[in-house]
Amino acid sequence: NTKRRAVMAGNWKLNPKTAADAKTLAALVGAARRDVDADVDVFVCPPAPFLADVVRVLEGSGVAVGCQNIYWKDSGAFTGEMTAEMAKSVGCTHVLVGHSERRELFGETDEHTRLKTRKAIDCGMTAVLCIGETKTEYEAGQARRVCSRQLEAALEGVQADELSQVIVAYEPVWAIGTGLTATPAIAQSVHAGIRQWFREKYGDGAASKIRIQYGGSVKPETVDELMQAPDVDGCLVGGASLVAEQFGRIFNFD
Ligand code: G3P
Repeated sequence: NTKRRAVMAGNWKLNPKTAADAKTLAALVGAARRDVDADVDVFVCPPAPFLADVVRVLEGSGVAVGCQNIYWKDSGAFTGEMTAEMAKSVGCTHVLVGHSERRELFGETDEHTRLKTRKAIDCGMTAVLCIGETKTEYEAGQARRVCSRQLEAALEGVQADELSQVIVAYEPVWAIGTGLTATPAIAQSVHAGIRQWFREKYGDGAASKIRIQYGGSVKPETVDELMQAPDVDGCLVGGASLVAEQFGRIFNFD
């Protein structure tokens, strides 16, 4: 088996409501991870106010913690923002960049995604670079082209030896929160295209190492088949990551 080590992530988005709820969920996820003897990396991305608490709860559990966003500046008059260094200082190892919700709802551009990716890498964190096409683009047969454009923009200037700090998450926008998981065949076809992009840009070695997660309505019922696709190395899970049992089943995929 030449497949890469699996990596499963929970993106909690704007949930749960309170620090107490976040700690409870984290404790359940940590317990589920301890119960499972699987060869898999797991991390969760709680909302910023809960990061430090969740890091503490998950200490020693084997579940890492990521933040959902960073700003690319180091300090200064930027009300409301959080730096990579701040997140790292409370124990975050991963950061989501380029999530379609950031792009669509908060006006983030390819250039912002590039700056955030650069900052995460420079800070010693792993950038989880989210890419993916909209429904209209999918229907127009542009999935691969859109992904390539987003990769090209976000990874401009990133060197091959820095790719160990990058995970790609392919999240077709039409599959996010819709209950419409991409079929394993669709996911495989786009993931293969993404890996091909890495091959052309960085060579065979880098392409064979880069981990590509699928995201979009992943559920316990859909994870096993998705993970059998040769170029699917993990999942980025929204809704189902809020229920520890479901998320536990997902990272204990067959
Ligand atoms: O980042 C994960 C995400 O966008 C997928 O969400 O709820 O469709 O699993 P969901």
